[in-house]
Amino acid sequence: MAEYKVELTTGDMQHAGTLDHIYMTLFGSQGQSERTELDNYGIDFKTGTTETYTIKTSSSLGKLLLVKVEKDPCFLLKEDEWYCSKMVVTTPEGDVILFPCYRWISRGELVELRGGRAMKVFEEDHALLIEHREQELKLKKSFYQWKVLAEGLPQINNFNDTSELPAEVRFSKSRSKEILGEKRKTGIELQFKGLLGSAEQWESFEDMKKIFCCRSTTLSDYVAEHWKEDDFYGYQFLNAINPNVIKRCSELPRNFPVTEQMVKPFLEKGSSLRREMQKGNIFLCDQKKMDGIPTRPYNGETLHVASGLCLFYLNPDNKLIPIAIQLHQRPSEENPIFLPSDPETDWLLAKLFIKSADLIDHEAVHHLMNTHFLAEAFAVATLRSFPVIHPIYKLLFPHFRYTLFVNTDGRNTLLAPGGVLAISSLGYDGMIELMRRSFSELTYSTLCLPENITARGLESIPNFYYRDDGLKLWNIIYSFVTAIVEYYYPSDCEVHKDAELQEWICEIFTHGFLGNKASGCPACFHAVDEVIKFITMVIFTTTAQHAAVNNGQFDYLSWAPNGTLLLRKPPPTTKGQSSTKTIMETLPNVGETVSFAAMARLLSEKYNDMVFLGAYPDERFDEPAPKQMIKEFQAELSYLSEAIATRNSELEIPYTYLDPNQIENSITI
Ligand code: FE2
Repeated sequence: MAEYKVELTTGDMQHAGTLDHIYMTLFGSQGQSERTELDNYGIDFKTGTTETYTIKTSSSLGKLLLVKVEKDPCFLLKEDEWYCSKMVVTTPEGDVILFPCYRWISRGELVELRGGRAMKVFEEDHALLIEHREQELKLKKSFYQWKVLAEGLPQINNFNDTSELPAEVRFSKSRSKEILGEKRKTGIELQFKGLLGSAEQWESFEDMKKIFCCRSTTLSDYVAEHWKEDDFYGYQFLNAINPNVIKRCSELPRNFPVTEQMVKPFLEKGSSLRREMQKGNIFLCDQKKMDGIPTRPYNGETLHVASGLCLFYLNPDNKLIPIAIQLHQRPSEENPIFLPSDPETDWLLAKLFIKSADLIDHEAVHHLMNTHFLAEAFAVATLRSFPVIHPIYKLLFPHFRYTLFVNTDGRNTLLAPGGVLAISSLGYDGMIELMRRSFSELTYSTLCLPENITARGLESIPNFYYRDDGLKLWNIIYSFVTAIVEYYYPSDCEVHKDAELQEWICEIFTHGFLGNKASGCPACFHAVDEVIKFITMVIFTTTAQHAAVNNGQFDYLSWAPNGTLLLRKPPPTTKGQSSTKTIMETLPNVGETVSFAAMARLLSEKYNDMVFLGAYPDERFDEPAPKQMIKEFQAELSYLSEAIATRNSELEIPYTYLDPNQIENSITI
């Protein structure tokens, strides 16, 4: 007679427990156990509990290979799903083996779990496990398939609605409830104030403060106070929600004929534009990719989006200030170069048009496409290519938590025709066209922060906290990934032999980067270093980069005059014709403004079941080495968090978006 001790943990989230019967069968290299009901005295499988059961066999099963778990109905009661976290089995020989589960199991469902150390395909030495691995991948590939959202964009998952998604990638019930509650609360508040759906025009800037008077943030209040200031305008191109646009400018584009005379008054006394360019103090935001993108109709007319050029100067006080703005690509008399010395409302309007185009670019490209959609492509490739016992699956799956759900939901709400993003000046079709243009130029290098910063010539610009914190995070993630990957791939030989790893990168190249060699995305891996860099980029994108472009949306978007996704009037074509009234007529109406602010609110919210960078509450690795590496990763993140807090205590505007304590471990909003 042999006894196997099974410690079974039920999840601690709402409704995780079940009253149904649970059966378990153990499979070993020398036989299998009886199908045994797990039944202790009293109620089993209560939420957040760990209970111990015994499974008896006539003799040892040899090496323990697989565990089958079945959830049978208790017919008297309606379906209650069970969230099984993990099982730890102690064999008669004294081996203690972890079987991670971490998923919902429905009535009548049978789940097979692999346990023990992470295994690559070429290491499998037992026929049962080889067969199981093949079957698992076959099933996953039939579940998770690629679908085209629009030609020229990264492909997406095949589920049309969140209700169709498999349990392992669904939102928890508590998260769904919380979001719904937040949406209702926001909707009721705005309706109560008579703002939602109102086609009225704002009468004054003061009126706009009514939107979320009780729910503003310190920074959203700051924005509402300082939005007119040029140095705060420049600051936002470095440290607000779209920090990946401006570049150092050593030569003016030919279509931006700024003269020495125009900008001389704004430069250091005695200096010149040419000299400041040589010193590396001139920067440019060039929106040429917006040129010619069709906009949506509005009240019988067509809306306008700037495809402008904005020149910035890093002044002797280390402040980045805009010094010249042209709102279209082709210079002409109707396309004047606006200057800080122009009448105040002309200059404000010019800045507003640049910012509006920048925010559309932010939502469509830098936020949705470069983080949400790319993360989805990485997630689908991971689900299709790796079995759950694979070390890279164990490493990466936590970084895709809820991403398929939030993207599928977002495509049916925010991005759908008629959704909040579709009421932007570009509308749905324009947004897709902008994404398509941008994606055709997106490179792997752009997604790697150290290369991104160097390519834009921003290595030394002062007060660039996105860069400072981002590079430190990149290095911390890189060290962690290096430790894990080198542990499982001691040489390039293992990389060559791992057909699943090669299939994974090939799927990403083919379906994520659409086979575009010019993107620089690898189609296969030759060396360990290449694997480390790519996985670092994946984790950085799904954590830090998303936090940088997502978390400040309410801070910077809720005050419409600071920048908005919709402008109702065309850009000014002459100087001296505008007034505050023109700005009010140009800004979105009351209903549109509050829709954008409500969206920003929902997307910047903190939810109770968030998991922060490096937390890994699900225990997926069974070996001591990766567990230790996770601890070291967490310690490094904690040091960085402290350093950022110390730095922020000295700043007028603390930069918190890349504080590891504020970065989620995956894209969930
Ligand atoms: Fe997001």
